[in-house]
Amino acid sequence: MNNHVADLDVTAWGDFMAPHAQKERMKEILIVDDNVTSLKQIGAYLTGKYNFSMAKSGAQALQICARERPDLILLDVEMPEMDGFATLEKIKQTPVLSRIPVIFLSGNRDIPTEVKCLHLGALDFIKKPIEKNILIHRLELHLKISSYQIQLADSVARMADSISTTIAEMIEWRDENTGGHVLRTSKLVELIGRELLLTGQFDSELSPSALEMIVRAAPLHDIGKISISDTILLKPDKLNDEEFKIMKTHAALGAEILRSMHARMLTQSYLMYAEKIAASHHERYDGNGYPYGLSGDDIPLCARIMAVADVYDALVNSRIYRKSISHDEAFSMIMDGRGTQFDPRIVDAFETALLNSRWNTQKGGFMS
Ligand SMILES: [Fe+2]
Repeated sequence: MNNHVADLDVTAWGDFMAPHAQKERMKEILIVDDNVTSLKQIGAYLTGKYNFSMAKSGAQALQICARERPDLILLDVEMPEMDGFATLEKIKQTPVLSRIPVIFLSGNRDIPTEVKCLHLGALDFIKKPIEKNILIHRLELHLKISSYQIQLADSVARMADSISTTIAEMIEWRDENTGGHVLRTSKLVELIGRELLLTGQFDSELSPSALEMIVRAAPLHDIGKISISDTILLKPDKLNDEEFKIMKTHAALGAEILRSMHARMLTQSYLMYAEKIAASHHERYDGNGYPYGLSGDDIPLCARIMAVADVYDALVNSRIYRKSISHDEAFSMIMDGRGTQFDPRIVDAFETALLNSRWNTQKGGFMS
């Protein structure tokens, strides 16, 4: 892989960016400076140690960041039009970019400039002219810190996932004969979501990262059942009107639990989706569902996806009050609900997803 020094065409980024999945890959540095001599000099310092790309302006840097995610940005303060401060503000306002570490570069040695850089969220400040050893040392330090932060965030997210899935399974074990509903429905939600991503029908609402959070949130859809008594939850017969009224409260209560969970763990954004799913997974597309009788697109997309996955999985697995039905019967019931109980676009995605996937319709899981 060659680092790119002379040609500053940002469209060439992909030619020298290594795949992020590689183990022990070289870190990617984005150098932003309107001075080509300075760009070349920094590029020469980084050659052999880091992969890098260069931008001659803040606008060009943002274009690059929109396509790729550098591990760190070296950002000149003094640039015409959009200066380093304005560029950093844009970076910090963009959620997917906001955590990329930024080090400011400036020939201006006054303290107010340095303080302003740090105040805006830059991690460090390197004075020009740049000394190679100082640059490399600071890069190593900040890349190491950033890597620890990413690992820590990942561990926290995995821990949160396993705690929430365990809670969901504990609730499930109270009323499920076979178990596994929360994990199967999450997989089904993922399959349907991936299909919807391919069709691009919900581009404004559904991105790969949104889907990732929806899949993480899906196991918590019935968390509100914690409040339902065993007499109702384990009743082997059909619920009477009063009992069903109580059973229906699990949706709003689950949303309330997840709302307060999110308030305590604000960094866990997937809980926002979990709240929406819990609140609305029993709403119907035609407005005849519960708890609020929402209809059409007023029902959050994540809950419309969950509704299909939840009903299908409930039908093909036995419950205390009824026996399972076959995949064909359940599939046909989902198709019958197209446009009435379920969003037709999601039913279509469900149908295509099952056709294209290795989902085992006999066992309700993936074929090995
Ligand atoms: Fe439910």
